[in-house]
Amino acid sequence: MAIPEEFIQELKNKTDIVDVVSSYVRLKKAGRNMLGLCPFHNEKTPSFTVSADKNFFHCFGCGAGGDVISFIRRIENLDYVDAIKFLAQRAGLEVPEGQRNEGLTRLRNRIYEANREAARFYHKCLYSPEGKKALDYLRGRGLTEKTIIHFGLGYSPSSRFELVNYLRDKGFTGTELIQANLANESKNGNPYDRFSDRVMFPIIDLRGNVIAFGGRIMSDIKPKYLNTSDTPAFNKSKNLFALQLAKNQAKGQLILVEGYMDVIALHQAGFENTVATLGTALTTEQANIIRKYCDEIVICYDADEAGQKASARAIDILRQTGVKIKVLTVPNGKDPDEFIKSHGENGPARFRLLLDKCGNDIEYRLAKLRLKYDLEDTRQKVDFLTEAAKIFAGLENDIEKDAYIVNLAEELHIDKNAIMNQVAKYVRKNQYEARQQQQRKMYHSSSGQDNIINPEKSYHLKAANAEEALLAILLTHPDAAAQISRQLPADKFITSFNRKVYETIQKRAEQNLGTDASDISGEFSIDENNCIHRIVFSRLRENDPFRAAQNYIAILEEENQKLSPEQIARSDEQTLMEQLQKMREKKK
Ligand code: CTP
Ligand code: MN
Repeated sequence: MAIPEEFIQELKNKTDIVDVVSSYVRLKKAGRNMLGLCPFHNEKTPSFTVSADKNFFHCFGCGAGGDVISFIRRIENLDYVDAIKFLAQRAGLEVPEGQRNEGLTRLRNRIYEANREAARFYHKCLYSPEGKKALDYLRGRGLTEKTIIHFGLGYSPSSRFELVNYLRDKGFTGTELIQANLANESKNGNPYDRFSDRVMFPIIDLRGNVIAFGGRIMSDIKPKYLNTSDTPAFNKSKNLFALQLAKNQAKGQLILVEGYMDVIALHQAGFENTVATLGTALTTEQANIIRKYCDEIVICYDADEAGQKASARAIDILRQTGVKIKVLTVPNGKDPDEFIKSHGENGPARFRLLLDKCGNDIEYRLAKLRLKYDLEDTRQKVDFLTEAAKIFAGLENDIEKDAYIVNLAEELHIDKNAIMNQVAKYVRKNQYEARQQQQRKMYHSSSGQDNIINPEKSYHLKAANAEEALLAILLTHPDAAAQISRQLPADKFITSFNRKVYETIQKRAEQNLGTDASDISGEFSIDENNCIHRIVFSRLRENDPFRAAQNYIAILEEENQKLSPEQIARSDEQTLMEQLQKMREKKK
């Protein structure tokens, strides 16, 4: 890991943590800090804070916390060096090179370039004699010239070598084309075009890179759609088709459909806030992305059975993000594209009507539930209402809840209070379960996690607390760190994790390098950093760091006295074993 210290400092200076976090979490101002829903655990009331002054984030729910680099490491699942590169790209800074991962970044960039050239090539082919049938196909499906250009649609020629040859002339190697999945590898190792005789849909990410393609066959040959497989530059479960266009048109609402053609038809009809998944079921990652760009999502899947199943799954996943969900069912078993087209020039207006009157997912779930019961039968009616009460219990808005209950009570001639009582029961049950879950999470994420990072802590509680208090002083008073850390040799630290933190600070202080929690974060894993963050976060800044430090140094000297030489030797190796043994005994 050879990124120069000065560069990391420059990057941190140029990076606004609120800005970075805002591209993942919707933050609202709360006093001096910003507040939002924690992206690292499921929650409905915000407990995730970001402090611009102090340059850190902290979640009061799950205990996650750290600086902007730790945030990126966690949320993008990157190691320290890649997180820095990620932030550097965002800040428009060039990372001084000479590291291992240079290869991957380079390959990714080559794939973007190859894809961009391929998209140009396919688009040009659409207007060639061979591409005419594809152009006619798209026109036949009702697309205008403007739409075809807007989406950069294209045609892949049927010869299996045209794209490969074209891109080789542009300087791309066969290996690069295979890695980009623009080409397949023949038995004797030669690349040949992956897409042949298909209408091409480029897939573009939020930064404008062409990351993949979908290709539709114009006959009944299977598969109907062929897509780019995952490559170093493309992960189908982390992207959405047309999000780069839709995100600017969302105004709080996105429409989620199943197919490329549905997206394109809806955009052309004026619903430019439409996106689609990329040939897979909706993933949690995609749901989180959706949440970032809207408050309300309208699920508009095909009316067939597969579509309805996918819809139910998507609802489950989207509900966890807290986004408001509506479900639009297109009548007569059509998909949105067919629906718009079948109404000719009234298509857009007809779709608008559907959009305006479509219900939220409660209505949808209620309708589904209703189908399962014969409501003429008293027994079944009771069962239906019991299940319905469970659905209502999930509603956070009391007015909405009441409205549903009153409607249903009237319709089924039941006393509304009876339903309300049932709902109240489930609400209490849900709340109880949520609390339990929260407590379990708290245990695992804070105390439990810290115990894994520093297993000796509970064995040497007094010493560990003094160590942590001292570390907190060093980490928050970088100006005093050098002087204080010269006073106490590292071997006075009894628990080994804290000792490692201390040694890191000592070493850096000697070299005149920064010593705050963020400065040392590169030496530690995400979980270790979390632990360090909590050491700092849970303590107030001392007015007189030197005096406070003396106090903790004294405690540590004292605790060291108590340890016999054997104990000291043992404490390192055996505490973990003993710790485990103790835990086992406790469990019995
Ligand atoms: N899909 C896919 N591979 C297939 C079939 C479908 O990746 N073999 C994906 C595509 O992203 C497609 C979406 O699933 O857009 C929906 O598929 P489907 O409903 O079958 O097609 P339509 O979108 O209706 O396509 P078209 O209107 O062109 O027939
Ligand atoms: Mn279709």
